Order: sequence, then structure tokens, then C-alpha cells
Amino acid sequence: MSSTFFEINMELVFATNNRHKLEEIQNLLGNKIKLLSLKDISFFEEIPEDYDTLKENAQQKARYIYDRYKLNCFADDTGLEIDYLNGAPGVLSARYAGESCSFEDNIVKTLKELDGVENRKARFRTVISLILDGKEHYFEGAVDGEILAEKHGDSGFGYDPIFRPLGFDKSFAEMDMDEKNKISHRGRAAQKLVDFLLDR
Ligand code: IMP
Repeated sequence: MSSTFFEINMELVFATNNRHKLEEIQNLLGNKIKLLSLKDISFFEEIPEDYDTLKENAQQKARYIYDRYKLNCFADDTGLEIDYLNGAPGVLSARYAGESCSFEDNIVKTLKELDGVENRKARFRTVISLILDGKEHYFEGAVDGEILAEKHGDSGFGYDPIFRPLGFDKSFAEMDMDEKNKISHRGRAAQKLVDFLLDR
């Protein structure tokens, strides 16, 4: 038997279909905890996100899966909050340019809204909702930065090519996964989740 077999001592469903998110968090968990995607548990529906806050949406997604499968699971919800736009797109970040828009559509709209604007301060915020043995737990992470005037890099996903974290001279899309994970909103929230899980 492989040593990996012995090192995995828990499986946890991550209620997402986003392979980038799955890879980012699996990377942090190492091989002590194996993440299962929605596809891995043969769940192919869209999970609704009906609320106005990241916490409620993360909670809704985790509960949606837990109620149906009774499996330990977690979900995240992330928003990009731009100061000049009074916190928009925030909880609507996925659908900023309209229903079923692409990452590229959202970037184009953001750059247009900020065309010629000097104040480009923004932050990413993530809330993770974990349901473990029926009990709910929450973990938050955030990163401050600014919106660039044009796209830089092609790694990552979403708004990564136009978001530069404070104190760095490159965008998230110019970083490798480890570098992004150390300082990103989801990396910070996920590290709290990992510490909590490994502490038990
Ligand atoms: P979600 O609802 O948590 O999937 O996040 C909403 C939207 O925020 C996603 O569709 C992405 O466009 C964006 N987003 C979430 N996380 C990231 C990230 O780490 N980098 C860039 N964009 C992100």
C-alpha cells in the first residue's frame, strides 16, 4: 500500500465546481485530508446563492450539501469589494457583468467602471462555512490591494489578472499557487480551516 493511503485520515466535501479553488485548498491541506468535489459525489446541480452576505451564501451552500448527503463538508463565498464602487461587486462578483457572464466579461466591466479613476483600492473577502458532524463553523480571510489598469498574467482565475495585493509588484495572475495561497483571502480563510481540522 502507498504511504499516501496511511496519511489520508479524513475526507471532506468542498461544495464547489471550481477546480482552481479545489486545487488551492487541497494544496494547503496536504495529504492528511482528501477533498471531494461536487462531481466526486455525483452532484451536478447549481447550488443557489440567494443572500446578500458572503456568510449567508457560504452557509446556504454548505447546508444544501449537508442536508442531502449528511457528509462533512464546507463551502466558500468570495467577494471583490472596490472602494470607489462602494464595495461593489461584492457578493455579486460572479455575476457582475450579468447572468452567466464569463470571468473576462467581469474584468472588462470592472476596468470600464474604473477607467480614469485614481482611487483603485479594493479587497477580496472570503467566508468559509464548515459543517462537521452536524456543527457549523466559520472562517474568514481578506486581502487588501488595488485594481490594475489592465490585465497582467494568466494564472489563476476570476479577477486575478487585475488584482495586485498590497506590498507586491505583481498581480495574483502572475503568482504561482503557493505564492497566492500564502496571502490570498481564500488562502487565509482556508489556513484557519486547516488549523482547526488538524487541531482536532
Ligand atoms: P464565489 O461566489 O465564491 O465563487 O466567487 C465569486 C466570484 O469572485 C468568482 O466568480 C470569481 O470571479 C471571483 N473570485 C473568487 N475567488 C477569486 C480569486 O481567488 N481570485 C479572483 N477572483 C476570484
